[in-house]
Amino acid sequence: MSKPYVFITRKISEEVLAPLMEIAEVHSWNSESEAVPREVLLKEANKADALLTMLSDSVDQALLTQAPNLKVIANLAVGFDNIDVKVATEQGIAVCNTPDVLTETTADLTFGLMLATARRLTEAETYVKEGNWQSWSPYLLAGSDVHHKTIGIVGMGKIGQAVARRAKGFGMEILYHNRSRNDVAENELGAMYCSFDELLTEADYVVCLTPLTEETKHLFDADAFKRMKPSSIFVNVGRGQVVDETALIDALSKKEIAGAGLDVFYQEPIGADHPLLKLPQVVALPHIGSASVETRTIMMELCRDNIIAVLNDKRPKTLVNREWGR
Ligand code: GLV
Ligand code: GLV
Repeated sequence: MSKPYVFITRKISEEVLAPLMEIAEVHSWNSESEAVPREVLLKEANKADALLTMLSDSVDQALLTQAPNLKVIANLAVGFDNIDVKVATEQGIAVCNTPDVLTETTADLTFGLMLATARRLTEAETYVKEGNWQSWSPYLLAGSDVHHKTIGIVGMGKIGQAVARRAKGFGMEILYHNRSRNDVAENELGAMYCSFDELLTEADYVVCLTPLTEETKHLFDADAFKRMKPSSIFVNVGRGQVVDETALIDALSKKEIAGAGLDVFYQEPIGADHPLLKLPQVVALPHIGSASVETRTIMMELCRDNIIAVLNDKRPKTLVNREWGR
């Protein structure tokens, strides 16, 4: 019997892949810089038993309906908005993500981005490196305090909770909005549940961690930014399309809000000539929320193990479509 065929859409270390290579024929798109072209992905999916995908790969209906052997998609991310989970489930395909293992790493980045935006760290660094530092002055690159301010977390999942724990250490007041109440956040961290509008009105730092769904697309629109304080800072480590980016640019330009720290964008990668990047009060990162070497390695191992499980007719550890195989 021939071995199952696994396609991986990026280069992954052979060390991580070794156990998978024992049971499967493994092929990868090996470019470090370029994502797998759509036509290559379609061709590979057509013969694959398993796919290990990145959040930048669109695993849509067109791909899924031409993947007759596909049994499992392991996505190297906690988010899975790049996958048509409904169609995958209808076709009996297991969809797996990487929750939990990236929680603390992503919370570190979120908190760091909030601090960097508030205290203008990247602007200050550019100032020094470009040789503009001529003298010390009291308000030189003065930003806003983070400690003892109010943070408003939109999307209180595990990452939100880990951000709240950090905020508590900074003496911050913690507000949150979520589909459902989070007892741990309320009882252990003193987070206060409030409506979306209330959160926007009250928070000094509005931190978006919500996944992208039909309900959250363009959640942050012109009206949302108008509700925020002129001194407030918006931080997005969720998904770019949760934000109406034109409205964000408008709100920043008109000083309806004071700044934005963004790890995610409507269209990724964002072009260097994008108007958002022309604004000094914007700190922009290339979607690196979970990007520590330790965590990315653990995420790859989890994807590998999920694929091995399904190929061995076992239940994968972190299944998105929990109804799979029942
Ligand atoms: C990153 O954005 C992820 O969903 O893991
Ligand atoms: C998952 O870990 C989340 O915070 O959404």
